[in-house]
Amino acid sequence: MTDLRRRVVLTGAGGRIGSAIMPLLPASWDVQRTDLEAHQGIAALDVTDADACQAAFTGADAVVHLAAVPDPTASWERLLPANVVGTHHVARAAADCGVRRLVLASSVHAVSAGPDQTQVRAGDPPRPANLYGATKAWAEALGSWVAATTSTSVVALRIGCFAAQRPSADTVPAREMSAWLSPRDAAELVRASVEAEGLRFEVANGISANRYRFADLQDTMQRLGYRPVDDAWSSD
Ligand SMILES: NC(=O)c1ccc[n+]([C@@H]2O[C@H](COP(=O)([O-])OP(=O)(O)OC[C@H]3O[C@@H](n4cnc5c(N)ncnc54)[C@H](O)[C@@H]3O)[C@@H](O)[C@H]2O)c1
Repeated sequence: MTDLRRRVVLTGAGGRIGSAIMPLLPASWDVQRTDLEAHQGIAALDVTDADACQAAFTGADAVVHLAAVPDPTASWERLLPANVVGTHHVARAAADCGVRRLVLASSVHAVSAGPDQTQVRAGDPPRPANLYGATKAWAEALGSWVAATTSTSVVALRIGCFAAQRPSADTVPAREMSAWLSPRDAAELVRASVEAEGLRFEVANGISANRYRFADLQDTMQRLGYRPVDDAWSSD
């Protein structure tokens, strides 16, 4: 029998976001989890290995690229392998394999040098304030390149502050609360990014439906069909 399920490959799937969203992704997807080391349903894929990326993405409908060093204080030496070289290899392999949709984990750090009191919009150009944010701007640039020159369409997600638990206003600054992304909204964001139709290249904001929002969600909800439900300020 032919397997008609959508095959979606996750990189960096053993990390915080990958582990949290895995049980919440559509049951209709055939999700293939990869990370640096194989363990418990996760296959080994080092994204700095271009040939291995090619082999892992062959036949995939979508690639969701989460693998990275996600540290805003990280040095060039730490960022270079996964964030710079690895993201290039993932983008190139996804395009070479004819993957329909590539989803790239960018970050609000790609735009963190913007004015303090201004809400970030998905259409804002990259404006990083640290080297990590610059590697996320690089990821967005690679996404634009692939979308402009191949049949692979791309969504780059400017993810806010992912946390498994709702942040507490007693301990977390309001600005960080306003960028909260919950696990179920992260899964919904990935679902929408993979399934949305009629896109070529989109930069989207990845936060929950917080009462006060670090980033605007109007364009992201409209373009991707993203429907977040959690609010950092809710008392539920
Ligand atoms: N957590 C957040 O709040 C946040 C915010 C903005 C953006 N992001 C981005 O989302 C993505 C996932 O973040 P996370 O919090 O789950 O990070 P994480 O560090 O928990 O997970 C990243 C995973 O990538 C893997 N990895 C590192 N180098 C690799 C390589 N060369 N090949 C394959 N895998 C490699 C690690 O083993 C790890 O499992 C990252 O791209 C990060 O930059 C996260």
